[in-house]
Amino acid sequence: MKGNLLFFLLVVFQVNAIFAQQDDLLTTFQGHKINSALDWEMERRAEILYYFEQEIYGMQVKIPSSFVLQRRLVMQEEVHYGTTSVLHQEWSLVWRDTLKGRIQMEVPMTLFIPREQAVKGVFVSLNFYGNATMDTLKSIPFNTAYIPANEKFKIVNHQLTEASRGTSAWRWPIAEIMASGYALATCYAGDFAPDHRAHFRKGVLQFDVHSRRFNRHASGAIGAWAWGLNQMMTALEKSPTLSKSVPRIVVGHSRLGKAALWAGVTDSRWDMVISNNSGCLGAAQSKRPVGEDVYRITKRFPYWFARRCRHYAKHEERLALDQQMLLALVAPRPLYVASAIQDEWADPEGEYLSWCYAQEVYALYAKSPKTPCQFPAVNQPQILTGLPIGYHVRKGDHDITMYDWKRFMEFGDLHFH
Ligand code: GCU
Repeated sequence: MKGNLLFFLLVVFQVNAIFAQQDDLLTTFQGHKINSALDWEMERRAEILYYFEQEIYGMQVKIPSSFVLQRRLVMQEEVHYGTTSVLHQEWSLVWRDTLKGRIQMEVPMTLFIPREQAVKGVFVSLNFYGNATMDTLKSIPFNTAYIPANEKFKIVNHQLTEASRGTSAWRWPIAEIMASGYALATCYAGDFAPDHRAHFRKGVLQFDVHSRRFNRHASGAIGAWAWGLNQMMTALEKSPTLSKSVPRIVVGHSRLGKAALWAGVTDSRWDMVISNNSGCLGAAQSKRPVGEDVYRITKRFPYWFARRCRHYAKHEERLALDQQMLLALVAPRPLYVASAIQDEWADPEGEYLSWCYAQEVYALYAKSPKTPCQFPAVNQPQILTGLPIGYHVRKGDHDITMYDWKRFMEFGDLHFH
């Protein structure tokens, strides 16, 4: 009884960590100045990561230690995109509970590898409506988890249909990616956490040790998606067809861009991190009153974040500094941020500013040239030799397009070759 009461009190009066207001990326919450990469990593990086876990995305997903990740090759075939010969593989990622001796979760992963050249890097990305929407190949199996209703992707009763095949192909220029020597792996985000406030726990969060208790710092869907991306990398590392030395690039669009950033930040095995139109609580500044704000995002999508995040709705001034803190956690690894000029909801200029301010931390690692914070012209990418971070704002609206992918590959070529 006493124990229960204590537990209840702990739950109700959870002590929140105090994060002081900041206006400097290189000053700790205790007021210490950071002057070196070592101090950054030992002191400031760790406390900022903790801050984002507690206040925004929730604690990193942790599944019971009795779970093991296994991979099964379901199918492989040779396909051609133009003149490029490509190995198409279908994998099943399986989490087996070794204590209970049963499979707890199973997620299909689609992988494309160019065959006739050394692979320059592998893009790892989640998709919004199922793997089969990315291409018309009949050999891509249907995901069976809940899929949000959407006429454009021919989703019927929250499931894929034959007509769904290839309906998001414009977002996945496989031919160009393969011809440029990059591999591409994708999973359906909804397999890790369905994108719905009533169902989001039906993926990995049902096993998350932090989510089991009534905990306002537990992960939301973005954390589950990020976890999924990190697990995909683990699975790929064991791939017999993709050498371990192939650079791993995590990339995502919009809400999945927020997840790609959080994956890049929480797992330093990623060699490059790319955010496309990630907007509010992604790359965009939260304190700039432009586009989506914390109130609107947490009202419409409360389950994307830790419950604690609502504390900042209509009170962005309570946030310690801003999203440059998140981008800076990627340093010193190459980071690319992409915006679209008509994507006002995501605040392109706010995305640019976070990117630009994050350079302060990159400068601790190398004497890289800092670009002055001046919003560039449309379709004038900032991809410069010696600059570890890249940016573009393209013409057009909220989307991930061929233009974006081509810049990501240029950025990859610059850093990996
Ligand atoms: C909504 C949401 C954004 C999100 C976007 C998307 O517009 O408000 O935060 O990035 O959906 O994922 O397409």
